[in-house]
Amino acid sequence: MRILVLGSGAREHAILLALKGEGGHELFAAPGNAGIAADAAIVAGLDPNSPVAVTDYANDEAIDLVIIGPEAPLVAGVADALRERGIPVFGPGRAAAQLEGSKAFAKRIMDAAGVPTGRATRATTRAEVEAATSEYGAPYVVKADGLAAGKGVVVTEDRAAALAHADTYLPVGPVLVEEFLTGPEVSLFFVSDGDTVRALSPAQDFKRAYDGDAGPNTGGMGAYSPLPWLAEQFGSEDAFVELVTREVAQPVIDQLDREGTPFIGLLYAGLILTPQGIKVIEFNARFGDPETQVVLARITSPLSRLLLSAAGGYLEDEPAPTFAETAAVTVVLASEGYPEAPQTGRPIEGLRAAASVDGVHLAHAATAAPDAPGGDLISTGGRVLNVVAVGDTFAQARERAYAALGEITLEGAHFRTDIAAAVAD
Ligand code: AMP
Ligand code: GLY
Repeated sequence: MRILVLGSGAREHAILLALKGEGGHELFAAPGNAGIAADAAIVAGLDPNSPVAVTDYANDEAIDLVIIGPEAPLVAGVADALRERGIPVFGPGRAAAQLEGSKAFAKRIMDAAGVPTGRATRATTRAEVEAATSEYGAPYVVKADGLAAGKGVVVTEDRAAALAHADTYLPVGPVLVEEFLTGPEVSLFFVSDGDTVRALSPAQDFKRAYDGDAGPNTGGMGAYSPLPWLAEQFGSEDAFVELVTREVAQPVIDQLDREGTPFIGLLYAGLILTPQGIKVIEFNARFGDPETQVVLARITSPLSRLLLSAAGGYLEDEPAPTFAETAAVTVVLASEGYPEAPQTGRPIEGLRAAASVDGVHLAHAATAAPDAPGGDLISTGGRVLNVVAVGDTFAQARERAYAALGEITLEGAHFRTDIAAAVAD
């Protein structure tokens, strides 16, 4: 197949590596990055957020499948435009993508579908925020209602900080005040053709910047998959996945279909396993980053067929995806100052040595080609790259991931040292 992947992060690199592993495809990426350029042809000058440009390119180049990585092209209506032209695309239209873009929309869909989630109050004034924070008590959860690239959420014991966060966002739009949910978090991805739902294997993400879940929220500093402790709580991972499919994913997909906005793409359910049961904290309309890097490191069935059958509306005929029993761990190498003020433009050394560690591969997130041929790649963003390691056990996968990180030099860079530590004993 000729497959075009839109986006430029480690998630897109992971998707392309899974496709490359199948063999026999011609792979294209826009805009991509320096790491992706080794595994796919970069389409120079193609704006991934332009419905017209992407549709014209896919049409002219006889692309068989477009996979949309990040949320921005979804919100810009790129999937709608491709679908109108009859080009197979994996990614929801603008209307269904609101599941991610508007937290209030997501809450309404969940209410209508009877999906368990925490209590939340939509506030448009300071007084409403104060009343809601008093009602729910500490810790306080305040979220901007709109795309904020992971920056719109604070979870804090400090009421003044919660109110200050609301003050930042109220001038631009409503905020949500939520009840705090306690329990382990799980990211579970579902592929849907608007009707049928197929689950991938669960993963856990580490959202805080520093070890021990300290520091600010980030886009994600690491992840692991599978989650061995799910079997203890639910009997088996399959039993957990079936439960979430039945109680969360299928009802949401059915509700969006009933409303005339079918969801064709990746439904990301962010869950908290509370003492009162499984609750949704958020939906995303795209693969998660960095969870995708570990989930796809374990997939053993062809990703291309899965996504194409979703795009084509015949997912029901496709067998459920399968995953290796191996342990997969990914650790993000982040720039100095990330997430507040990342310092970029610095050379990255040791990538070849890192990638040659047994069981390790690299997924690039923000790297650019060197200024002169033969030079080092240059960092261009906050999350620079992911080291991805698989092993027979989490202890082995962790050992490999951290050995590979030890080979890499990037001035001022930081990474968490406790990714998957709790499951590695
Ligand atoms: P979100 O962008 O909604 O996923 O929030 C980012 C992170 O904040 C989540 O992954 C959780 O760790 C935390 N969080 C968000 N909402 C809640 C909540 N209601 N209760 C507890 N933690 C939350
Ligand atoms: N890992 C969190 C996200 O992709 O939103």
